[in-house]
Amino acid sequence: MVSTKTEEELELMAYAGKVLYDLLNYMETVIKPGISTKELDSIAERFIRDRGCYPSCKGYEGFPASICTSINDEVVHGIPSKRKLKEGDIITIDVVATYKGYMADTARTYEVGKVTKEVADLLKHTKEALYKGLSVVKSGVKLNEVSKAIESVAKEHNLGIVHELTGHGIGKEMHEDPYVYNYSNNESELILKTGMTLAIEPMFTLGKRYVWLLEDDWTIVTQDGSPAAHFEHTIVVTNNGYRILTGE
Ligand code: MF3
Ligand code: CO
Ligand code: CO
Repeated sequence: MVSTKTEEELELMAYAGKVLYDLLNYMETVIKPGISTKELDSIAERFIRDRGCYPSCKGYEGFPASICTSINDEVVHGIPSKRKLKEGDIITIDVVATYKGYMADTARTYEVGKVTKEVADLLKHTKEALYKGLSVVKSGVKLNEVSKAIESVAKEHNLGIVHELTGHGIGKEMHEDPYVYNYSNNESELILKTGMTLAIEPMFTLGKRYVWLLEDDWTIVTQDGSPAAHFEHTIVVTNNGYRILTGE
């Protein structure tokens, strides 16, 4: 069942989303060679709690930190550690906040110092896919149109689309119905409706699409070791389009 949210519920999600947008912008200024992912996690946790929210990842199915930090070939769910960022790395921060019982979820991949042109383009095109997906969102549109739009950007640039992970509905739970695939998929005939809240999140790789789960039972990496990028926004469907709750 895909729920729609009331104006009151949306305002709570929008507050959580605004805190996360400010956080990811702030992270832009602290991500540098030499900083550890544990330090990033502490900064994020304090930032979120200081603004009256809860860092929802913490304790979610046993996840031990407030943010997911995924470096280079790590696609998602990297666990913050003593590992320090290096010049030329990329790092995805994926984070969820809860405000008065309502959640927002967002992710962004950052460049650490200078990266290769190929890697910079991977980031650029993954972000572009998120916005291309968003561009077709409005009440009355089939959800699969969003998936198709995201897929078209990966195809155009020959990027791998990770299939094992998807976007999702969000609200009182971090993961609600429906699944939002990053490739055309006929499993869902869902028609978007005003008030539905979705986390849309393309995950692309510079190589093949295949991934492994590491022994820590969380970190998902590309099988071929190629770098991966991930951009995510929480949005609400409106009559004429959408409103991003985790950005402008
Ligand atoms: N934020 C992730 C998503 O986009 C889920 C994080 S799993 C957690 O769906 F355990 F870290 F919370
Ligand atoms: Co996320
Ligand atoms: Co998500």
